[in-house]
Amino acid sequence: MGMGTLYGIGVGPGDSGLLTVKGREILGRSQVICVPKSKTERESVALSVVKPYLAEDAVVEELLFPMSRDEAVLEAHWQEAAQAVAKLLEQYDSVAFLTIGDPLLYSTFGYLLKFLQQVAPQAPVEVVPGISSFNAAASLLRIPLVEQNERLAVVPLPVTEQEFLGLSQYVDTVVFLKVSAGFDELLDLLEASEFADEVYLVSRCGTGDEFWTNDPFAMRGQKIDYLSLLIAKRRKG
Ligand SMILES: C[S@@+](CC[C@H](N)C(=O)[O-])C[C@H]1O[C@@H](n2cnc3c(N)ncnc32)[C@H](O)[C@@H]1O
Repeated sequence: MGMGTLYGIGVGPGDSGLLTVKGREILGRSQVICVPKSKTERESVALSVVKPYLAEDAVVEELLFPMSRDEAVLEAHWQEAAQAVAKLLEQYDSVAFLTIGDPLLYSTFGYLLKFLQQVAPQAPVEVVPGISSFNAAASLLRIPLVEQNERLAVVPLPVTEQEFLGLSQYVDTVVFLKVSAGFDELLDLLEASEFADEVYLVSRCGTGDEFWTNDPFAMRGQKIDYLSLLIAKRRKG
């Protein structure tokens, strides 16, 4: 018996209107919706984005992923998730796996894909791109990320001082992701650099309770939502 197709679907940053038409069409006919979730999340943002478009009888499968930096712990979970997805593909024709933003940008789906290729290399896979958090944030702020021959870097935290100094020589705009851990340390690096004058913090972009500021330095010591990013632009001239 052939296997069903796995669809990796980028649902965008959190606004149902920013899901692609293709993603919406596939979700409407998917029998199973896999939702990666960390133990601390109350409800998956990705699931809330797609809820209006799901088939009435769609089965929602939550796959738990720890918020760990320990490679061994993470690998064990990805392996387990890949086995669970392979099992679903033996039973169903169409299985969707949701990702906030784009599925191939710092996403659980990228790892799942790698492990699925080991446990079920014959499984057909289709990836539907999504609007990334930082593209949506730039739209919210109405600022160009880069123009002409400028360079853009996308950097997840943590970042060391040495890494930041190296990087800051070559780029004009830096997007920092996963800024909730190490936020104050990042502000220290930015404040002492050519990126101090134009820094934006955007939290929960598109979710309905989004927040942004062009003075993140005033937020030192505060708890920052996991769905937050910083955009920093080099001083011109
Ligand atoms: C694991 S990465 C996922 C990135 C995602 N695949 C993308 O394309 O944007 C998670 C990080 O993305 C950023 N992020 C995701 N959604 C966001 C949102 N709605 N608003 C602000 N930042 C967001 C945050 O920096 C968060 O810590």
